[in-house]
Amino acid sequence: AAEESTHAGGSDFVVVANRLPVDLERLADGSTRWKRSPGGLVTALEPILRSNRGAWVGWAGVADAELDPIVQDGLELYPVSLSAQEIADYYEGFSNATLWPLYHDVIVRPEYRREWWNTYVEVNRRFAEETAKAAAEGATVWVQDYQLQLVPKMLRMLRPDLTIGFFLHIPFPPVELFMQMPWRTEIVEGLLGADLIGFHLPGGAQNFLYLARRLAGHQTSRGTVGVRSKLGVVQAGFRAVRVGAFPISIDSGQLDEQARRKPIRDRAKQIRKELGNPKHIMLGVDRLDYTKGIDVRLDALLELIAEGRVDPAETVMVQLATPSRERVESYVQMRGAIEKTVSRINGEYAEVGRPVVHYIHRPIPRDELIAFFVAADVMLVTPLRDGMNLVAKEYVACRSDLGGALVLSEFTGAAAELRQAFLCNPHDLEDVKDKMEAALNQPREDGRRHMRALRRQVLAHDVDRWARSFLDALAHQGAAGPALIAP
Ligand code: ADP
Ligand code: G6P
Repeated sequence: AAEESTHAGGSDFVVVANRLPVDLERLADGSTRWKRSPGGLVTALEPILRSNRGAWVGWAGVADAELDPIVQDGLELYPVSLSAQEIADYYEGFSNATLWPLYHDVIVRPEYRREWWNTYVEVNRRFAEETAKAAAEGATVWVQDYQLQLVPKMLRMLRPDLTIGFFLHIPFPPVELFMQMPWRTEIVEGLLGADLIGFHLPGGAQNFLYLARRLAGHQTSRGTVGVRSKLGVVQAGFRAVRVGAFPISIDSGQLDEQARRKPIRDRAKQIRKELGNPKHIMLGVDRLDYTKGIDVRLDALLELIAEGRVDPAETVMVQLATPSRERVESYVQMRGAIEKTVSRINGEYAEVGRPVVHYIHRPIPRDELIAFFVAADVMLVTPLRDGMNLVAKEYVACRSDLGGALVLSEFTGAAAELRQAFLCNPHDLEDVKDKMEAALNQPREDGRRHMRALRRQVLAHDVDRWARSFLDALAHQGAAGPALIAP
């Protein structure tokens, strides 16, 4: 044990994610500053880590940054350095041109390249090594998301004293699709290094249990997995690995409180005025990603206007889109297509000084975003596939006035919880149009009733509850599982 503790670091609770919660930005004058990282993983985990006083191991978002560990606002950050070539092969390549499209139902065709896989293995090893340095003897380590699926096994080999959890923030695909992956067995075995593997939905957990039998040859439990209950079990040699469904959420209380503040309400009114006081404001808020179905909602709007079901003189749509993965080819193409449709709608239906679609391709400051949520009459969340979608929950948390309506794709994790939204099938354009029209014309009392029910769900199931349910299950090994295991 004395020997163990010489290599152990100081942190009892360590989060490992591809990205740190902040990105290093290099400014034109050569100086640097930190800014918030994009995406839902950071939105969800940052408040959790702050209240648990943990350490965070991750990449600072730029190439070749050899940075020492730093403490920032009470968070201990351990930067992992990636070269430009590693960013191309591990991050843009294997993570975002292989795994991302494969796990999102192959909306775009995944590319399988051996050199990308090799770099994925190398970079996962580096993350495991850095984590082994940061974690104290017997610490709990929580590995996040698809970029790091080999880390649980690698870390267990380096540090058998650790308790290791893994959570996947994106969908886990149907077995038939996962089987395309040339390195499918390595990935399943990488994940099985964890003590507890979490997914958003029971379906993902069940797909994984099947693959642990089929690809890794382990015995597993056969019963259905519940939500935050009835964990599955994989018997991997002497170790029992548990598998469960833990739908992620947001800091609902905090957002509710922020959205009630006078400056935000005033800004929301001002936004309405700046948009020309239209009768209806529709809003989309996404990373610019082909999974989000931004094209779907634009196509639907175009047809609704053409059919005379939406009046462009009294309706505006605002699309706030954070730039994302801008060097990956499929993202370049999608951006072109979306920008073309935006111009087409405005070209045909706008007046000078009164665009129908307002499109902003840059990240929006948090307070401003909240004001947009408060101002929007109809929120459009139409992904073709999304693990959860936090934007839908953020909108609901901001509507203490019980105003507004949510159009939500059935193909999001959030749809399993937000049943009173206008649920739509994004592959069925007529259905999307019908739901958008219904949301625009919803009687006020119906809207209030729906929003009240949605808020009950989102306020009761916040991100703190998500983290507690996962970490409690991780801490109580053997407690919640069913009796092992029918062969
Ligand atoms: P993903 O993790 O795939 O990006 P989520 O909807 O789960 O999708 O999370 C996205 C997060 O990023 C949310 O917290 C949302 O508020 C934030 N976000 C999305 N678009 C923007 C934008 N244009 N400006 C600022 N923040 C944004
Ligand atoms: C999703 C993924 C995260 C990722 C985020 C932003 O939320 O699940 O792992 O960090 O998108 O994407 P990026 O590629 O910019 O990190």
